[in-house]
Amino acid sequence: MKLRTTVMPTASLFAVLLSCAATGAAHAADAAKGGDAQAARDKVSMCIGCHGIPGYKASFPELYHVPMIAGQNAKYIESALNAYKKGERSHPTMDAIAGTLSDQDIADLAAYYSNLK
Ligand code: HEC
Repeated sequence: MKLRTTVMPTASLFAVLLSCAATGAAHAADAAKGGDAQAARDKVSMCIGCHGIPGYKASFPELYHVPMIAGQNAKYIESALNAYKKGERSHPTMDAIAGTLSDQDIADLAAYYSNLK
């Protein structure tokens, strides 16, 4: 009888620890993928105006062709956005937009667009 009362709390504590470990592993998997496509759904509103329309041409500050980024490799999208942000690549609109994005935003957007067909 004494044994049962001491074993029970230990077992449930172990179950709690196990579930924490499982959640931790899920997060690690997300990070390894580079971003959370789900989280990007709130952020793409500032991109779809230009990148959402196949073959779309924007007319400011001059007429230019907007590249397709849906289905692009996530690493490519990420490095392109970082390049605009750091000034290694330059375009008036993309410089301004990338400058407002955090590393996490960039990772999330890359995950979102690379999964978009
Ligand atoms: C006002 C229009 C506009 C908006 C808004 C915009 N983009 Fe762009 N984007 C462009 C144009 C034009 C280019 C091509 C610029 C160049 O030639 O370097 C570009 C280039 C890119 C590239 C590089 C593509 C390639 O093939 O190299 C990525 C990635 C990108 N944009 C992502 C985004 C994301 C993510 C957002 C939202 C946070 C966004 N853009 C918002 C117009 C826009």
